[in-house]
Amino acid sequence: MGRIEGKVALITGGGGGIGAATAMLFAEEGARLALVDRDGGAAEAAAGEIREKFPAADVLPMAADLSAEPEARGALEATAAHYGGLDILVNVAGIRVFGALADAEADSWDSILAVNLMATVHCCRAAVPLLRSRGGGSIVNVSSVFGVTGRAGMGQYDVTKAAVVSLSRTLAIEEVGHRIRVNAVCPGPTITPFHIERAEARGVSEEELRRTGAQHTLMKRWAEPREVAHTILFLACNESSFVTGTALVVDGGASAAVGGS
Ligand SMILES: NC(=O)c1ccc[n+]([C@@H]2O[C@H](COP(=O)([O-])OP(=O)(O)OC[C@H]3O[C@@H](n4cnc5c(N)ncnc54)[C@H](O)[C@@H]3O)[C@@H](O)[C@H]2O)c1
Repeated sequence: MGRIEGKVALITGGGGGIGAATAMLFAEEGARLALVDRDGGAAEAAAGEIREKFPAADVLPMAADLSAEPEARGALEATAAHYGGLDILVNVAGIRVFGALADAEADSWDSILAVNLMATVHCCRAAVPLLRSRGGGSIVNVSSVFGVTGRAGMGQYDVTKAAVVSLSRTLAIEEVGHRIRVNAVCPGPTITPFHIERAEARGVSEEELRRTGAQHTLMKRWAEPREVAHTILFLACNESSFVTGTALVVDGGASAAVGGS
């Protein structure tokens, strides 16, 4: 407890599966939080769960489409104004597009790049002066294991996640003199409401999804969102004080054994 006591953290996609789990863990560790999501109701709900568990928690839910640069800047500035600064930025917001690259239309490239890459770019850019003025801080960008390995069928998504790894590395190099650390987290299959609802839409129950999905991992199971949140916390807090510019894979060993085990 208390690893980020009093630190101000903005979490994008804070109403989603990994974002809300990260927010809850950060609240447990004493952070003051801004949860920003395009789905304002989801951000409110995540904030409500935190307040239920920690009535004294500082948590500020916000609705914003972070793919729009002014909205991203506005969310960062509103957080800094509310809490008097910013120490940690966690970029979790993301969308998926399914299909082969040969069929990928320009419009869907535009929309996935706008969220998965450009929302992260906009938030990082708006955060840097705030973190510099604080004497340093930590940025954690959520990529994917498919940002560092390959597969068929989600190429557009995977390209954006590889770009997030590259963005994190270069920003780490450029900002190290300002004591800003920047890292990426690359999750494997993580059982969030997104996957559960998608499975249910094709008649697959959560129980069946848990049993049959993620068999390509060494552990033969999905990650819980909180397991990814713990990695984000590690990179956000001082325990990772010598870690910057890296991409930390959290995939139950899936990428360790090429071709499976
Ligand atoms: N769940 C997994 O298996 C998995 C694996 C690897 C990487 N990831 C990545 O982790 C992140 C979270 O995944 P999740 O499963 O929790 O997904 P999710 O869909 O539950 O959460 C994503 C959140 O981002 C928000 N969002 C989308 N576009 C936005 C925008 N333009 N502005 C602001 N908010 C926006 C959504 O409203 C949603 O609440 C994503 O970036 C995803 O690509 C997830």
